[in-house]
Amino acid sequence: MNTQVYANANDLRGFSVKNCASMPQPGGVLMCPPDHYDVVDVKNPFMIGKAGTVDKAAARAQWEGVRDAYAANGKLVKLIDPVEGLEDMTFCANTTMVGLTTRMDRVCLLSRMRHPSRRREVPYFEAWFKKEGYRIERLKDETAMFEGMGDCVWHPGKRLLWGGYGFRSDPEVYKEVAEIFEAPVILLRLVNERFYHLDTCFCPLSQESVLIYPSAFDPESLGLILKIFPIVLVAEEYEATKLLACNAAVVDSKVALMQKGSDIAARHIRAIGINPVELETGEFMKSGGSVFCMRMPVY
Ligand code: ARG
Repeated sequence: MNTQVYANANDLRGFSVKNCASMPQPGGVLMCPPDHYDVVDVKNPFMIGKAGTVDKAAARAQWEGVRDAYAANGKLVKLIDPVEGLEDMTFCANTTMVGLTTRMDRVCLLSRMRHPSRRREVPYFEAWFKKEGYRIERLKDETAMFEGMGDCVWHPGKRLLWGGYGFRSDPEVYKEVAEIFEAPVILLRLVNERFYHLDTCFCPLSQESVLIYPSAFDPESLGLILKIFPIVLVAEEYEATKLLACNAAVVDSKVALMQKGSDIAARHIRAIGINPVELETGEFMKSGGSVFCMRMPVY
């Protein structure tokens, strides 16, 4: 079983996605209603000047739009109870990493969040996944940070992970992540603080295609992306930085749920046979998140 961590193009010599085992697509998504969602401090550049500006009614309506879009595209939407005082809990893609082992055991790896306020979310997700019957795993190294699916994403349909680091997660965690999920990890280094999570600049669309914002990565990492994906779509600056175009959520490589107004990205995505569906997530972008991080795919 390959649990190697690949950090440069030389390592990848002889590696082929075709040789990675396939993985079933998750049938559902976990979401957290935005009852207590707010911007109260600055954890990333999107949040600067946004404290106290969230329109709660608009946020609720936008969240319902995202929830309904997942349901309309065949995903069973499950809910976790929101907790007062945990204003970021609605971004439920960050507090865990979820996947299947080679024996199809459902595993939930708990994140180690960089910000103390977000660390308090993790036990609630632990309890939820435990109740659902997942095997709960935690990282042994207590000092290393890991922000779940914010930085670690599955290659569509394959037993292969992409691991981002540089702002929220530490590169050292990925050896353990690879062993827990029994999958190789390709490391990507983030170098632009506006793209603080991998899911803000890297959106795998299908086994062959990805949407990225190139200047979020160092050259070595860009080389790794180009080596693996034959089709690399490039997000335009305004759409990537202001509309979080790369934080789109792709459902079964057929539909891309994405922030309204990302017209160039939408056109490119349509050109490769995936149907873009525009949603409004403006209230959540004030906190640095959009469609992708408002849900955790579950099996
Ligand atoms: N305010 C949250 C934070 O900074 C937003 C997280 C959004 N998630 C994402 N993966 N982009 O942690």
